[in-house]
Amino acid sequence: MIILAPSLLASDFSNLEGEIKKVHMEGRGCAYLHLDVMDGMFVPNISFGAPVIASIRKVCDIVFDVHLMIMNPIRYIPDFAKAGSDIITFHCEACDSADEIRRTVELIKNSGAKCAISIKPATPVGEIVPYLPELDMVLVMSVEPGFGGQKFMEGALGKIRELYEIKTQKNHTFDIEVDGGVTLENLKEIKEAGANVIVAGSSIFKSPDTAKTIGEFLSV
Ligand code: DX5
Ligand code: ZN
Repeated sequence: MIILAPSLLASDFSNLEGEIKKVHMEGRGCAYLHLDVMDGMFVPNISFGAPVIASIRKVCDIVFDVHLMIMNPIRYIPDFAKAGSDIITFHCEACDSADEIRRTVELIKNSGAKCAISIKPATPVGEIVPYLPELDMVLVMSVEPGFGGQKFMEGALGKIRELYEIKTQKNHTFDIEVDGGVTLENLKEIKEAGANVIVAGSSIFKSPDTAKTIGEFLSV
């Protein structure tokens, strides 16, 4: 069974509460809400930050899966934890050193949130192997981070398989999340590769019938 994480980036920002209610319906909604934070430096786009997350925290109890696409994320972990993030994901490419990665992981875990590291399409799985025993989740990007609505990059499948193999061999417990270009057409292949947390922005929020699409995603 997968966990579906609709990405709020693809929603109508003029009605965040209504958009969240659309995907988090009693009994048949999604377990996570994926929140893409972009700083205009690590990625070329700017989205929203901790104050927006703190505001929507007041109107729903869905798990907040916060994806930080910001440089040196260690600077802002306390803010995002305080805003109500349940899972905080950062990019290893946004840190200056292995030591900074370790300290970021530690800070997130000490804040009480779950911790995940994300890798961009060009970053090999090997880069994050040393941290895997500490992680609750790994996020494999299947598009270049920065924008919704891009095409799924097939190269992500091999990385998901590689992570799944390490996870099984070493008895690790981390979830494997995939983010970018996921559709009803490629979901089966992604699941079979070993991903169990699925981010979907455009496919869900731009659907004319959100409830039906969510049902279809969950039954693949
Ligand atoms: C891209 C973001 C994704 C994005 C996914 O940088 O991390 O979460 O919103 O959107 P879709 O599903 O439309 O590719
Ligand atoms: Zn994301």
